Amino acid sequence: MSEAFRLPVVCLISGRGTNLQCLIDGWATGELPVELCAVISNRPQAAGLARAERAGIRTEVVDHRDFTERGAFEQALRSRIDAYSPRLVVLAGFMRVLGTAFVDAYRGRMLNIHPSLLPELPGLDTHRRALDADSSEHGASVHFVSPQVDGGPVVVQARVPVLAGDTPESLAARVLEREHIILPAAVRWFAQGRLRLEGEQVYLDDRPLTSPVILDAQGQWHFENAREKP
Ligand code: GRF
Repeated sequence: MSEAFRLPVVCLISGRGTNLQCLIDGWATGELPVELCAVISNRPQAAGLARAERAGIRTEVVDHRDFTERGAFEQALRSRIDAYSPRLVVLAGFMRVLGTAFVDAYRGRMLNIHPSLLPELPGLDTHRRALDADSSEHGASVHFVSPQVDGGPVVVQARVPVLAGDTPESLAARVLEREHIILPAAVRWFAQGRLRLEGEQVYLDDRPLTSPVILDAQGQWHFENAREKP
């Protein structure tokens, strides 16, 4: 892979940062052609901050509790993000709802990982809700962020079976393992210039995706309209 260009990326986190760790690992090995400019957390105690620090990546905290209005929090967050001039913002377990002005500022260059097969189960507590609904299948989605919470165009999904005896924790662990594959994949496609958003349409390899890329339960990739495998 050419070392010539690495896409500047800022990651936003709120918690433990295992998805962030996968991006750090891909960045460190050169597998992901990205420069992780900074990791910004809205929670000072987020374990992901230590992961970034260990890797020598700059960290910042913009604590939402320091602001009485969401708009002021988001303005502060934007100014910290923009200081790094990222070409991509990755929400890697960032647990704040973002307003329209914020989302519009990064339209087409902000990706989120969500633990469900969107459009099913937007919002919180998805693993418990999948079990409550007796779903036979669950999973995770990487999508471009739109003002509608967990509602933006989906790029790639990982499907996992729901097994007899699953608890929210066991199901979450099975999903998380797949999150760690699909988030770096989407970031890599974007960094390679293979993935883009035009309006509401996702393009991969210059072809409109008629449906998300799928990583199935057997670990097989399924593409429609894409030229190459990931
Ligand atoms: C993941 O399940 C992700 O899908 C959701 O938040 C969780 C973050 O986990 N948005 P981690 O902090 O990456 O370990």
